[in-house]
Parts: sequence; structure tokens; C-alpha cells
Amino acid sequence: MYHYHKFFKNDMQMYLNIRAVSLSIVAFVLLASSLRPSAYSKEAGKELSPGERFHHETSLTWRGVIGDIFRSKPKKPPQYKNYPDSKIIKLPKPAYHGITLEESIEKRRSVRNYSGKLITLSQLSQLLFSAQGITGKLYDQPLRTAPSAGALYPIEIYVIANDVEGMTCGIYHYAVLNHSLELVKSGDFRKEITAAGLEQEMLGDADVTFVLSAIFDRVRHKYGERGFRYAYIEAGHISQNIYLQAVSLGLGSVSIGAFLDEEINKLIGIDGQNEAVIYLHAIGTL
Ligand SMILES: Cc1cc2nc3c(=O)[nH]c(=O)nc-3n(C[C@H](O)[C@H](O)[C@H](O)COP(=O)(O)O)c2cc1C
Repeated sequence: MYHYHKFFKNDMQMYLNIRAVSLSIVAFVLLASSLRPSAYSKEAGKELSPGERFHHETSLTWRGVIGDIFRSKPKKPPQYKNYPDSKIIKLPKPAYHGITLEESIEKRRSVRNYSGKLITLSQLSQLLFSAQGITGKLYDQPLRTAPSAGALYPIEIYVIANDVEGMTCGIYHYAVLNHSLELVKSGDFRKEITAAGLEQEMLGDADVTFVLSAIFDRVRHKYGERGFRYAYIEAGHISQNIYLQAVSLGLGSVSIGAFLDEEINKLIGIDGQNEAVIYLHAIGTL
């Protein structure tokens, strides 16, 4: 301390000088890193695969973050999607209390063989609630079971119901706010969903398959192209909730990333651009 006092008249002056030097170093490093060509830039002469390009072009840099402030972004779409003229199925209040979280985590496995017994509407209700149910509020903003970047909730869930007690076979949309299902179209779509899922048979055998789609502009209007990543990450959170809830209910489930995107989009009736399927989750009885 004695030596420092040779240079600085008092502690405050020493503090201010150290702060000024630190800030200058940080500013210099940020500026230098924003000007340095990235390892993946054209200057580096690397041919990028589509996946590498996606990852690279949605990576954050200070230059990008600052540039993004001035870049035009899409308009914010409505927070909730609804099928206003559809038949509505009110779901029972989720009230199930099962095994502990630790047991659920310990027991979780991807299960692809099901017994063929029906699942109940209460079980379906519990699964949907765990996936995206409303559990809180921040000011006026309802918050859900799974985390979401900026609480913007880009994910929609559709249920392809094959074998649910008391429910007609068909495709339903989960209306988060009312905890209910809206009928998109009735019919038995086992063959179609299996074909669209690259003939993975569990899709036809499952009692229900959840189709997770993303309305990208819900996150893109705030986070730009980075928003795409956030939508994919969020689907993973939701799927894990479904896995753990299924275990606790004594059901089997598996998440599915391999499918023909366009076929699923067509089946659900979404355009594949503003809203597109990103993940499936099949669930059945053991
Ligand atoms: C992103 C992702 C995509 C997946 N896609 C499929 C799939 O298309 N078909 C399938 O049978 N399992 C799929 N799975 C499940 C994995 O095969 C499974 O998690 C892995 O084999 C580990 O087994 P466990 O889940 O039982 O621990 C997927 C899992 C993840 C995380």
C-alpha cells in the first residue's frame, strides 16, 4: 500500500485511475475483436456448410449487437394463437401429485413401445400443463412452466390424439390461456404422422403425439436472427418437462427430431415459414 501512495495522493484518486485504465482496456479489446475478421468470415476463405453458416450468422458479436439496434425487425405477432370457431375441449384442472422430481429424473428413458391402452383426459391435461401451463405472472405477463427468452413464448403445441379416453381422434391445438384443446381437424392420422416421421412406428402406436411448432417472429421481433436459436432451445425445455411428467404419470415417451418438416407442417395446417414444426414428442401407456 505504501508504494501506491507514492503515485496516488489518496485512495479515491487511485480507484479512479484504476477504473479509467480498466475501462480503456475493455473498450480496446471490444473494438479490436469487432474489427478482427471472424474465423468463419469470407476473408478467412472458409466454405461454410448450411449448419455452420446458421450457427455463425446467429452468433453474437459486439458489432452485430450494435448493428442489430438499427436493423429492421419483423412486427410482433399476437402472443396467443387461437382457433376461434373450433370445437373446444376444456381440460380437467391439473392436480396430479406423483413421484419426486429426483425419481422422475432417475427413471427417465426414451420409450418407444406402448401397451395400446388409452390415456385419460386427466393425464393428457397434466402433460400439457407441464409442457406449457401458466404458473405465474410478472406484472400482466403470464409465465409458464418452461423458461422462455424474454418471456415471449414462441412455441405452440398441437396434439395428434390417437387413443385418448373420451376424445375423438384428431389434431388439436393447445390453448394455453384457457387450458383447453381446440379441434383443428378430426380423423385418424396414424398413417400420416408415421409416414411424416420417417416411418418411426412409435408415432402410430402412441396414444398422443405432441407437435411443437415455433412462431419465429415472436422472438425474432426482439432478438433478430438469434431468436431462431432461442425457439429451438425452448422446445428442448418443454420436451424435458413432458419426459419427466410422463415418467411421473407412469407413461412412456420419446422426443423425435427426425421427421419430414413439410409433411408435418401440411398435416397441422401451418405454412412452414411464419410457423414451422421443430420437434415431436410421442407418449403412450406402458
Ligand atoms: C434432439 C433430439 C432428437 C431425437 N430424435 C429422435 C428420433 O427421431 N427418434 C427416436 O427414436 N429418438 C430420438 N431421440 C431420443 C434419443 O434417441 C434418446 O434420447 C437417446 O437415445 C438417449 O436415450 P434416453 O433418452 O433413453 O436417455 C431424440 C433426442 C433428442 C434430444
